[in-house]
Amino acid sequence: MTNPFNNIYAGKTVLITGHSGFKGSWLTTWLLELGANVVGYSLPDPPTQPSNFTVSGLAEHVTDVRGDIRDYDRVYETVVTYRPEIIFHLAAQPIVLRSVEQPKLTIDTNAGGTVNVLESIRQSAGHGDSVRALVSITTDKVYENQEWLWGYRETDQLGGHDPYSAGKAMAELAIAAYRSTYFPPERYGEGHHVAIASTRAGNVIGGGDFADYRLVPDCMKALMDGRPIGVRNPLSVRPWQHVLEPLSGYLWLGVQLLERGPDFGEAWNFGPLEQKGVPAQALAEKLVDLWGSGSWAHTRPGYAEVETGLLRLSWDKAAHRLNWRPVYSWADALGEITDWFKSFEGGADMHQVTRDHIQQYTARARALNLDWATG
Ligand SMILES: NC(=O)c1ccc[n+]([C@@H]2O[C@H](COP(=O)([O-])OP(=O)(O)OC[C@H]3O[C@@H](n4cnc5c(N)ncnc54)[C@H](O)[C@@H]3O)[C@@H](O)[C@H]2O)c1
Repeated sequence: MTNPFNNIYAGKTVLITGHSGFKGSWLTTWLLELGANVVGYSLPDPPTQPSNFTVSGLAEHVTDVRGDIRDYDRVYETVVTYRPEIIFHLAAQPIVLRSVEQPKLTIDTNAGGTVNVLESIRQSAGHGDSVRALVSITTDKVYENQEWLWGYRETDQLGGHDPYSAGKAMAELAIAAYRSTYFPPERYGEGHHVAIASTRAGNVIGGGDFADYRLVPDCMKALMDGRPIGVRNPLSVRPWQHVLEPLSGYLWLGVQLLERGPDFGEAWNFGPLEQKGVPAQALAEKLVDLWGSGSWAHTRPGYAEVETGLLRLSWDKAAHRLNWRPVYSWADALGEITDWFKSFEGGADMHQVTRDHIQQYTARARALNLDWATG
């Protein structure tokens, strides 16, 4: 059996910014499984207490750099010291409601932090040229929401009404500007050897997310505490996707950037199977059912509703050019999540549980004949 992702990450030094966060900790676990030397760059404390990062004991397995992504000198120093071949940039302030309270911090972190990563790659190019690929994680919220029923494509207009969405759209513009000015695809292999892609996904759910203001963590924390789940917007429909879905896309895209240079250096959507989405109420009901006890109730938001209506993503491009597709239905995803939190509550070895979930997901992808899983 061939190793996933063409075995390309084995022995490679990979920098993950935001490695202590929800998605970053799953990506760290997966890259360790694939044999990578992981260097992580995050704020001193993980974003939540508890967190997947701490309960999985990941600090022991990585080069654990703590710093602020807004601190250019520290980001640059990390790149030139550890010399990663590829960077997955996830560090961000990711909560829309918090962005409304802290717009400057959010935009400085999400847009300015991305510029610091790009500039570090540009400046380090004269010092040994370690970085060959950047996969920069933005969001589906970068699209100007036109209230369309169909899925947004990578070529649709960028926008953003709230500071989070606008800051991520700014990051996209900075990525495009650095690519066309300093790393143009037509000069790849002559003036430079850096390929840069951005990725857009949203409504990511999974075990180990303990964040506030998010439905699934709210549900799981209430179920573990034996409290009724408070659902603020029961009819709000979202295209939920398990965390391993976009991560498989990021990792496979990274392989293309490393193996095939800049042909894949552009924007990519990664979305769920059920593009029409699932109401929050159905999600809470299913989690109660899977947990085996509990209840939910409609609660008042207590703050102005700032999030826009439903936005669907088209992942046709990833399907055609990467042979990527989602593996889990929303019910499969909730089953995995329930299993993760039941294991956590039962005091299991969470690093092992997370690794087992990655193995099961990979086996399902292999059965579907997806290129990334079959090699
Ligand atoms: N979770 C989702 O549904 C979702 C959806 C779309 C996009 N994203 C994007 O995916 C990425 C990861 O999201 P997440 O849900 O794992 O978030 P998270 O809050 O769990 O993790 C954020 C990570 O970024 C780091 N970070 C935050 N501010 C930083 C700073 N100033 N300097 C250095 N590090 C900093 C944190 O330490 C942490 O490691 C973010 O870029 C987010 O915008 C997430």
